[in-house]
Amino acid sequence: MKDTVLKKFEEVFGSAEGARVYFAPGRVNLIGEHTDYNGGHVFPCALTIGTYGVARQREDNRLRFYSMNFGGLGVIESSLEDLTPSKQAGWTNYPKGVMWAFEQRGMKLPFGMDLLLNGNIPNGSGLSSSASVEVLTGYILRDFFGFDVTNQDLALIGQYSENQFNMVNCGIMDQFAIAMGRKDNAIFLDTADLSYEYAPIALKGAKIVIACSNKKRGLGDSKYNERRSECETALAQLQQAVNIKTLGELDEKAFEEYKNAIGDEIGRKRAKHAVYENQRTIRAVEALKANDVERFGQLMNASHVSLRDDYEVTGAELDTLVEEAWKIEGVIGSRMTGAGFGGCTVSIVKDEAIDKFIGQVGKAYQEKIGYAADFYVVEIGDGPGRV
Ligand code: GLA
Repeated sequence: MKDTVLKKFEEVFGSAEGARVYFAPGRVNLIGEHTDYNGGHVFPCALTIGTYGVARQREDNRLRFYSMNFGGLGVIESSLEDLTPSKQAGWTNYPKGVMWAFEQRGMKLPFGMDLLLNGNIPNGSGLSSSASVEVLTGYILRDFFGFDVTNQDLALIGQYSENQFNMVNCGIMDQFAIAMGRKDNAIFLDTADLSYEYAPIALKGAKIVIACSNKKRGLGDSKYNERRSECETALAQLQQAVNIKTLGELDEKAFEEYKNAIGDEIGRKRAKHAVYENQRTIRAVEALKANDVERFGQLMNASHVSLRDDYEVTGAELDTLVEEAWKIEGVIGSRMTGAGFGGCTVSIVKDEAIDKFIGQVGKAYQEKIGYAADFYVVEIGDGPGRV
């Protein structure tokens, strides 16, 4: 991959002299969905697939971008004087947003750059290609200009840029999982205070399989922001009855005690998911620590049911992938992952059942939905770095 991207860089920008190669992963969340903006726990991991970047510092303020994933767009030019979001800027709004966010924090960029990207995360799949680009950009800026920021800061800067520059109200999970990723470990993160621990994922005789629905989704045009505000409304109503700052502070019992403070049925369902999913995530990590992978899988399945019935973010595509997966012996657990409304499912599948899983789920999906799903057997990788 290093040679491929360097060669392309040379072709696009004349020479590759002085260019450096970087990588930032994508991520998959194992459990803890739609909890990160509710002060709950998440349990994601970085993947070995992600975004490769070749970058070279310039001696002026110009920015030249090229993505091998959007080769048809050619070189997109801009400058450090123009760090404002625009429709025409397309995908470059992600790296530009991060540059803007550094400057917002008082880290002025002394020079522009030439940047070429090549991602092997399926686009719009819900495996966080945008957060991957954000963390990659932050990593490059730190490497070039020596800014005093930690990887955790890179996550926060990425999220800030996504919220304030790209106007997607996402939580911290994606950028955190990517910036802090560690090979063969998932990250048990408490989004209330960003305390975290690594948990080894040693799946003896099983693998993580991602099924991509190929139903495209963008957080901006999805109901993501709507779910967020439904949770905020429910929280405000609960706060009339109980002294809490986030939904994540309630356990199931407390929720049942106070839930009638929430005025409507929809609000109660949304908040119920946020509370129960957080508790499920805590239990799932306990189960994993006790080597009880079966229990972990059951909690993954319960997570999907809650996302389907209470949070209502699945849809026919994700439900078909998951419900077909559940029928197969050797599937330890299966659920949608990420924001929902399209994107991917994550399943833990015993080695001997993987071929059957891909064949059978793929066939049923094609028949019911009318187009094909894609399957990826993935590995858990490290956070960003130079290649
Ligand atoms: C998207 C967001 C995350 C998180 C998930 C749902 O991936 O970017 O912050 O909210 O959806 O768990």
